[in-house]
Amino acid sequence: MNKQVGVLTAGGDSPGLNAVLRGIGKAAHENFRMELIGFRDGFRGLMENRTMDLDEQALSGILTLGGTILGTSRDKPHRMLVGGKYMDMTDAIVDNYHRNHLDVLVCIGGGGTQKNAYRLMQKGLNIITLPKTIDNDVVLTDVSFGFNTALGIATEAIDRLHSTAHSHHRIVLVEAMGHRAGWLALGAGVAGGADVILIPEIPYSVEKVAKAILSRNRGGKHFSIVAVAEGAVPVEAVAAKGKSDKGRKSKAGKKPDRKLRMDSMLSDSTHGGNTLNLAHQLEALTRLESRVTILGYLQRGGTPSAYDRILATRLGTACAALIHEGVYGVMLAARGDKAEPVPLDQVVGSIKTVPLDHPWIESARYVGTSFGD
Ligand code: F6P
Repeated sequence: MNKQVGVLTAGGDSPGLNAVLRGIGKAAHENFRMELIGFRDGFRGLMENRTMDLDEQALSGILTLGGTILGTSRDKPHRMLVGGKYMDMTDAIVDNYHRNHLDVLVCIGGGGTQKNAYRLMQKGLNIITLPKTIDNDVVLTDVSFGFNTALGIATEAIDRLHSTAHSHHRIVLVEAMGHRAGWLALGAGVAGGADVILIPEIPYSVEKVAKAILSRNRGGKHFSIVAVAEGAVPVEAVAAKGKSDKGRKSKAGKKPDRKLRMDSMLSDSTHGGNTLNLAHQLEALTRLESRVTILGYLQRGGTPSAYDRILATRLGTACAALIHEGVYGVMLAARGDKAEPVPLDQVVGSIKTVPLDHPWIESARYVGTSFGD
């Protein structure tokens, strides 16, 4: 009997999602005679059994399309808002998996999706995941699709901001997405020649950032571009957070979990808030006019880059081949030129932050970029 393959896209949308759906679907139909059922809006659609037939017609013409034809959501199977209350809907999801006679469920998403998919795997479902996120913070894969496109968008933005910063002799802060990992701000900062790059992995001192800008000014460069990840934090915030955690530790008598610490520290940072604050501080310290550009959702929208189309097609088609072989419980990772399955339990619970000795950081320092440290 033909295999029945369920597929959903979850978490924030990302360029390349449709390319990957097309890759899975075309390979599944044309080579392995599998049936493909799409579930709408992530895990919610699977819970509500809202399906979309991913036949040849549905998959045609979507390679270059941004977003996801399936729709997406950040709903979690074990904590879903139903009738105004958060409920564990895992059983309903497991029932719908069986009702649709699925042999496997393919979950396409970032870190949260990997975790949710793993939970379903523990309930006995056959699962394969694919790494998608513009943040590039999924572990055990060289890269996740969507990142390259977002990197291109953010770099182009920095290129364009250069001429206006230069003309007005201003400091321009440009905020890139990335709450916990600074890949986008770092990559776009290096590619766009930002003068300062601030990422969550390297807490910054605002005084040191101001010093770097003033030294440029003294050297005759009367403008500066600061690439900021939305999760970049000042050293003082890290120190204050450490202190309050100590207090909590002595009260509760146990060491606070590192991940929780990061989460609560970063939850203070909403889109743009911290960057606006930083702009005010820099203006006060340097007496140079400052402006802020928040790139926000522009980075996730629109057509995928050629690199992401190839990556998504490579992972999507390899996914169909893996289903044919009956290999489940894995994330299909990009490793060099290959698509390799890695055990899903090794993926969940970790994020790929930028290593402090990463070559991108090293080369940025060599060309005189300040990290505010
Ligand atoms: O997909 C991850 C991400 O791009 C983060 O960088 C960003 O903080 C987040 O999505 C915001 O997305 P949303 O507002 O859709 O939750």
